[in-house]
Amino acid sequence: MNAPSSAIYRHLDVQKIAGAGGAEIRGVDLSKDLPQDVLAEIRAALLDNLVIVFRDQDLTPDQQLAFARKWGDIHLHPFMQGMPDHPEILAIIKRPTDKKNFGGSWHTDQMFSPNPAMGTMLYAKQVPSAGGDTMFTNQYLAYESLSDGMKALANKLRTVCVGDNFKQADGRSRKDRYADTMADMKVKDPGNVQTTSIHPLVRTHPETGRKALYIGGHVQYFEGMTDEESQPLIDFFMKHSVRPEFTVRVRWQNGTLTFWDNRCTQHFAVNDYPAETRIMHRITICGDQPF
Ligand code: SIN
Repeated sequence: MNAPSSAIYRHLDVQKIAGAGGAEIRGVDLSKDLPQDVLAEIRAALLDNLVIVFRDQDLTPDQQLAFARKWGDIHLHPFMQGMPDHPEILAIIKRPTDKKNFGGSWHTDQMFSPNPAMGTMLYAKQVPSAGGDTMFTNQYLAYESLSDGMKALANKLRTVCVGDNFKQADGRSRKDRYADTMADMKVKDPGNVQTTSIHPLVRTHPETGRKALYIGGHVQYFEGMTDEESQPLIDFFMKHSVRPEFTVRVRWQNGTLTFWDNRCTQHFAVNDYPAETRIMHRITICGDQPF
């Protein structure tokens, strides 16, 4: 179901995970200063597979940051406080006392920003004995599988995306919700950073040229429509875009680093490990204005 791959890998061993996308990559140590030809193959693997998984990595925060900076500037989360000594890295922590997890609904990162994150790198520091997987969905397939009539409608729609006070969360602010349910996830005031943005529902990937459905949990309504008019359509696009045949599921081990392309995927962190702790280090990379 993926577009045929034109990539020929000389440096990487690339093993596909699912029909919809995802690949495990062996033969690379991300703590090293990788040469350009290896980085070019990693970029090709990301574009071909949307989600790439590196196992058995041993990375300090500085080494993870150095690898992330190969892909662009670091996108600082307007609402979430980074690590005290590495503000560019968000520690995603869930402990047995936390009722909720961060990222536990379908979304694509920083869709509420005018230039949402191009990609996200999540590095597993401590994973539960079972569970805590992350699911991804291929938004190229979500778009391509629509009928011609629905594609025509989708191509005209623009989404209003909001970073806080989600109506899906009864209008409660992140700060209130997270304080009650995720004690380690500290919310900051975004100040004058823009956290509401309007984007096309169908975006063209700036590198592959393919069209993808650009929807996720930050979408509140369609520009020029009421909530009542928008919601049934949002429900349809959300349900359609996470059909099982569009998805791939990553099972983490300590030392796994997963790099995904937010321009053509959504993801969902599964909250199924109530008695255990999960700690991840997340870096997001700046992206372009969707078109
Ligand atoms: C996220 O939404 O970025 C978090 C994903 C995860 O923790 O698996």
